[in-house]
Amino acid sequence: MDKFVIHGGRRLRGEVAVSGSKNAALPILAATLLTDGPSTIVGAPDLVDVANMRQLLADLGAEVTGQGKRIQVAVRDERRSHAVYDRVRKMRASICVLGPMLAKRRRARVAMPGGCAIGLRPVNLHLRGLRALGAQIDLDGGDIVATAKRLRGTSVFLGGPFGSTVLGTANTMMAATLAQGRTVIESAACEPEVVDLAAFLNAAGAKITGAGTPRIVIEGVKQLHGAKHTIISDRIEAGTFMIAAAITHGEVIVRHVNLDHLVAVVDKLREIGVHVEPVGDAAVAISSSRHLEPVDVTTQPYPGFPTDLQAQLTALLCLADGNSAITEKIFPDRFLHVAELGRMGADIRKEGYTAIVTGVKRLVGAPVMASDLRASAALVLAGLVARGTTTVNRVYHIDRGYEQIERKLAALGANIRRTDGQPPPAD
Ligand code: EPU
Repeated sequence: MDKFVIHGGRRLRGEVAVSGSKNAALPILAATLLTDGPSTIVGAPDLVDVANMRQLLADLGAEVTGQGKRIQVAVRDERRSHAVYDRVRKMRASICVLGPMLAKRRRARVAMPGGCAIGLRPVNLHLRGLRALGAQIDLDGGDIVATAKRLRGTSVFLGGPFGSTVLGTANTMMAATLAQGRTVIESAACEPEVVDLAAFLNAAGAKITGAGTPRIVIEGVKQLHGAKHTIISDRIEAGTFMIAAAITHGEVIVRHVNLDHLVAVVDKLREIGVHVEPVGDAAVAISSSRHLEPVDVTTQPYPGFPTDLQAQLTALLCLADGNSAITEKIFPDRFLHVAELGRMGADIRKEGYTAIVTGVKRLVGAPVMASDLRASAALVLAGLVARGTTTVNRVYHIDRGYEQIERKLAALGANIRRTDGQPPPAD
């Protein structure tokens, strides 16, 4: 397994460009299963998860061609509708093929995803959406088996105990594009990735309005054609680089960023004392002095502070001048990074869904273990500022969501290198 070896203490300087959004690209690639013509997806990041989705589409009868930033998908054979457990357990976003296959092929068999390092990840709301559209859903041998003679438009409420669901909204919205009549999704997720998915679907002939609001209206159409679509920039990668600049007291311009997608993050960084200045339309300059103010932050569905930046912000607040309270309202168990940051000298105590962080003067390098994608990013950020050497093990987690993060950080002056290791275990 590859590791990152980081010698901390360098201030980051320079410019970095953010890649296309992983969490927009994955459902959009899945949505190509709804279409009857070839689609071209531009700007998807070159990541393990995207490679997994390409492979899954190929398993399901699509011809997937193109490398790097242009992926072409053309569905050739609609007979195979089984997303097997071996694929789904590698990538939970495989669940995104459920809605498209049900709507287009009238049947879908998708292995039920399990929990993961960030906690329980139920799919009951996905199933609620699809059932409301008229699907018959059974569980067989660990697989979700969904069938429908025809889907009918309906009104469905998709709010759950932790708010809206991003991929549950995506699945229901995708299925509803080919349903008969009008579907209204209430308490829909408002995330920019849902808006991007709706943009792709509309380019392919769907009739969706309201994406980006809690009420999405879909007028069913008979058929979708292929479309060309460019993926939005990755707001979580952008936020991670902004925090990297802040934690190292650096001066960094982050390019290819949409600050409208990062309002809560910019607000919190400014409250901490980080300087955040927009540069033109799609870039932002980040700099920070040595003094960081403690803050309280609660993760929330968009446009609130994203759970996918909670771990990285926690790393930053380890060095603030006082106590911060970080409350996780989306995935209450998403705190595995806390113990690892503790190995680097952080002072964090957990109280229920809240981590109380008492700022320390410095973090010290240590061997640490990544448990999930965003926790790994937090450990890398901590390593950039820690005194001495940090080894982040199991970086295959980070490779699922960040395109060449070590190269981008090294180009900003970080002393970070990847060391080769054994291939990751299947998990
Ligand atoms: N939930 C339910 N029932 C469901 C679905 C979700 O109770 O049927 C709960 C979840 O357990 C959670 C909350 O609703 O408490 C929100 O989960 P959501 O469904 O929105 O998460 P997701 O769609 O599975 C996506 C991202 C995650 C990101 C979350 C929240 C992708 C591929 N994944 O997951 O990204 O954390 O939204 O914003 O888009 C990551 O990139 O590291 C990552 C984990």
